[in-house]
Amino acid sequence: MSKLSFLTVLVFFLITSCQKPADNIVENLAAANDAPISEAVLKLGEQTYTTVCAACHTEANANLAPAKGLLAGMSPHAILAALNVGKMRVQAEQLSPEEREAVAQYLTNRKLIEVVIPESAYTAFEISEEDINAEFNYSGWGGNMEGTGFRSVAQAGITPENVSSLELQWSFAFPNANVVRSKPAIIGDWMIVGSQFGEVYALNRHTGQIGWMFQADAAIRGAIFYTAEGEALTAYFADYATNVYSIDIRTGELNWKKRAGHHPLSSVTGSVVVYNDIVYVPISSFEVVSAQDPNYECCTSSGGVTALNATTGDEIWKHKVVSEEAKVSGKKENGTSFYGPAGAPVWASPTVDTKRGLLLIGTGENYTYPPTNTSDAIQALDLKTGKLKWNWQATKNDTWNLACPGNPNCPTPTGPDVDFGMAPILVYDKVNKRDILVVGQKSGVVHALLPETGKVIWQTRIGKGGALGGIHWGLATDGDFVYAANADNVNGLDPSDSTLVPTPGIYALNLQTGKKIWSVSPPPCDPATRENCQQSNSSAPTVIPGIVFEGDLNGFVRAYSTKDGSVLWEFDTVREYETVNGQKGKGGSIDGPSPVAADGMLYVNSGYGMFGEMPGNVLLAFKVKSE
Ligand code: HEC
Repeated sequence: MSKLSFLTVLVFFLITSCQKPADNIVENLAAANDAPISEAVLKLGEQTYTTVCAACHTEANANLAPAKGLLAGMSPHAILAALNVGKMRVQAEQLSPEEREAVAQYLTNRKLIEVVIPESAYTAFEISEEDINAEFNYSGWGGNMEGTGFRSVAQAGITPENVSSLELQWSFAFPNANVVRSKPAIIGDWMIVGSQFGEVYALNRHTGQIGWMFQADAAIRGAIFYTAEGEALTAYFADYATNVYSIDIRTGELNWKKRAGHHPLSSVTGSVVVYNDIVYVPISSFEVVSAQDPNYECCTSSGGVTALNATTGDEIWKHKVVSEEAKVSGKKENGTSFYGPAGAPVWASPTVDTKRGLLLIGTGENYTYPPTNTSDAIQALDLKTGKLKWNWQATKNDTWNLACPGNPNCPTPTGPDVDFGMAPILVYDKVNKRDILVVGQKSGVVHALLPETGKVIWQTRIGKGGALGGIHWGLATDGDFVYAANADNVNGLDPSDSTLVPTPGIYALNLQTGKKIWSVSPPPCDPATRENCQQSNSSAPTVIPGIVFEGDLNGFVRAYSTKDGSVLWEFDTVREYETVNGQKGKGGSIDGPSPVAADGMLYVNSGYGMFGEMPGNVLLAFKVKSE
């Protein structure tokens, strides 16, 4: 395939096919299982794997690099995307396009080929004033500037009385994906959602049919944010490689695109938020992964926020969580240097405090020594200038990266890796008549803070915490209680305090005091009948009056009563689906964003082939039966 990488060709096919559905030839690697792969390709793939990948991806590794057997469960397309534009792009720098394609096919024993999306999967895209003004519309990660994850009865159209009638209406399979984590925006009859390979779709919300498709350069891991101003109807999102896009929703075409990262290894996992014509982009980095190479001079990147002009994409300001430049900070046992300070990634969508003019973010651990006082912290920035107004650190001296434990790049002493994976929620405390911030941490603690200063109001431990423990993706609040999902996944707990035991589940806490009101554990699962099952609630919850919706790592989505945590409805998403777009669909673990409730429908992502969780590739739409 000469110099053109396979992915470039793929992008070309997707774009042409979506603009002209009649041409409908696109790559479909999911159906590629049975096609034979040539001996020469397999041999080249094996050679590439042995010389470049095996050092980290063996079955016996103690780190978080997926073992060879787990890579085999991915699609060849997913591996290729990881090498070309994803997490492995540094590790794959030396490889030719042929070697990349060969190793992807060798590892999965699946061939990269083309197939067809049926014409019935497409529909005309038309958007009306009624769509744009619909009360149930939804945008961004937390659904509002405050990030509360709350939806009113009028918005959700789902109540404790009708929730048990939710039935699967349609399913859409992201071709070849094994992780589904982009949160859809809803605009009237339409939804806009991204995917693991950077396709962004406008889907008819009632049928799942494709109105248009836009191809971004890398995975869309976060939510789609949209704005409607005058005639302009604009979608904003960022890809993993930190490209930020402004798309004209009426046409599906690009207005502008801009790279927001400030380091070669900057990445975006969180979601953008747009306020007063500024796009705020949370910046993390995949240097945490690069550190796995013992010769890599770890680490020099910092988490941050980049603010862009929403109309032009021009940069307005940049904030680095680690403000000092990294310099040599020590020698490793293999003779190469440590650099620092570094790390403190911003994983999640910022919260906007319009009253105080603040942008609120949560930060993660430092990657190396020396630690900073800005890691595992909550920060308040000036919305207009990005200037730091206050910084509150929850956990000191948390230095960690994916080289831990054992590899020369692992800093010692080694921290527990207890990032904030969310920004604080801003909520009105009716009793004390003031705004407060509530935020959950991977340490297993929920914190309430004053938005003016960051001073602590209360703290409640709900879990043991650790790299895969505690609160990951978020909380939700209805103004009465705070609902928190505690992951406490046994595959990644903080061993330092043996008196703490893992307590995964959903917790309702009193907003004023943090007192636990109720909690429910997800039921255990049987590894004999469900591969890679894990008893854990890691994804963000969402709340509507009377109901908390939450998915678990065993693939169940549930509606819990806000009164006592009793289960009002559940659906096991782990199965195969006949999908609207004619692709093989499979459910898996539910992780990342919360479901979106709108107009009597519930939209749920299923599939999360990372960290040993169950892969899958579907977006599921449920509907309440009309009375
Ligand atoms: C220096 C160590 C190292 C090397 C070399 C390496 N990997 Fe990885 N790889 C990792 C780690 C660690 C992760 C997990 C990162 C995470 O999930 O945050 C990973 C993740 C992946 C993933 C999953 C990506 C995703 O988006 O979830 C794929 C696919 C992968 N590697 C393929 C390869 C292939 C193919 C090679 C060889 C060409 C390779 N890797 C070389 C350490 C390495």
